[in-house]
Amino acid sequence: MTAPTTPPGTPVPAAAASPLSVDLCGRTALVTGAAGGIGRACTLRLAAAGAKVRAVDRDAEGLAALAADSEGLAGAVEPYLLDLTDLDAAEAAAAGTDILVNNAGLQLVRPIEDFPPDVFHTVLTVMLEAPFRLIRGALPHMYAQGWGRVVNISSVHGLRASAYKSAYVAAKHGLEGLSKTAALEGAAHGVTSVCVNPGYVRTPLVEKQIADQAAAHDLPEDRVLTEVLLKDSAIKRLVEPEEVAEAALYLCSPQASFITGTSLTLDGGWTAH
Ligand SMILES: NC(=O)c1ccc[n+]([C@@H]2O[C@H](COP(=O)([O-])OP(=O)(O)OC[C@H]3O[C@@H](n4cnc5c(N)ncnc54)[C@H](O)[C@@H]3O)[C@@H](O)[C@H]2O)c1
Repeated sequence: MTAPTTPPGTPVPAAAASPLSVDLCGRTALVTGAAGGIGRACTLRLAAAGAKVRAVDRDAEGLAALAADSEGLAGAVEPYLLDLTDLDAAEAAAAGTDILVNNAGLQLVRPIEDFPPDVFHTVLTVMLEAPFRLIRGALPHMYAQGWGRVVNISSVHGLRASAYKSAYVAAKHGLEGLSKTAALEGAAHGVTSVCVNPGYVRTPLVEKQIADQAAAHDLPEDRVLTEVLLKDSAIKRLVEPEEVAEAALYLCSPQASFITGTSLTLDGGWTAH
C-alpha cells in the first residue's frame, strides 16, 4: 500500500483537522507580534481556548483588525500598542501574565559585509533582548502561583544557519539558549519554557518572497516553493500559521507539562538532514 502524498505546495488547512481541546479559561496570556501571521494565529487560538490575551504589536492597524476578528471568542483580546525596542515598557507589559508567547520578529537578508550594524542591533533587541525582558517581567507572577508557560517562537534558523541571515540566525540561536535557561530556572516553580521551530510559514512575508523569487528566477510560483524555499524540507509545503498556533496551544495543555527546555520542530523534516 502506498502512503498518500500531498502535492507540492498544497496548503493543509489546520481548521480541517480536529482542533485540540484545551481549556484556558481563567488564564491570561501575552503574545508579541500579535498583528502579524503567526502571532495573530496564536492570539486567536489562545483566546478561542478561553484565555484573556494581551496582544502586543507596534502595528496599530493590524491590532485593530485582530480585535475585530476576535469578537465572540471565549477569551477577550486586549490590543496593546508597543514597540518592543522600548525594553522597560516590554518588561512592564508582561507583569501578571500566565502564558507568554515570544513571537515578534523581523528579517533582513544581506551578506555580513553589507549588513547594516544598526539593523543587526535592532534584530537582536526585538528577537532576543525583548524576550529576556518579557520573561523577566512575567516570572514573578508565574513563580508566585506555581504555574507558567513560556513559548518562544524560534525557527529552523534557531537550529540551522543560512547564508545572509546573520542577525536572524544569531538572535534565534540566542533565543534557544535563553529558553533552555528559563526552563532550568523555572522547573522548580511549575514554569516550562519551550521553543517552537517552524520551517517556512505561509505568512504575507513569505508569500511576497515567493512572488519576488518567481519573478527573479523566471519560475512559476510552485517551483519557487519546491526548488528554492522548500529545498531542504522533506515535506514540500509551507506550514500554516494555524498549525504553529496549535503547537503553542498544546504546550499550554496539561498533557505538555513535562515538555521543557527543548525545541519542537514543525519543519517538514528539514533538520533531519
Ligand atoms: N514566516 C516564517 O516563515 C517563519 C518561519 C520560522 C519562524 N518564524 C518566526 O515567527 C515569528 C513571527 O513571524 P511572522 O512570519 O508571523 O512575521 P510577520 O512579519 O507576519 O509578523 C511579525 C510581527 O511582529 C511585529 N513586530 C516586529 N517588530 C516589532 C517591534 N519592534 N515591536 C512590536 N512588534 C513588532 C510586526 O509588526 C508583525 O506584526 C518571528 O519570530 C519569525 O522569526 C517565521
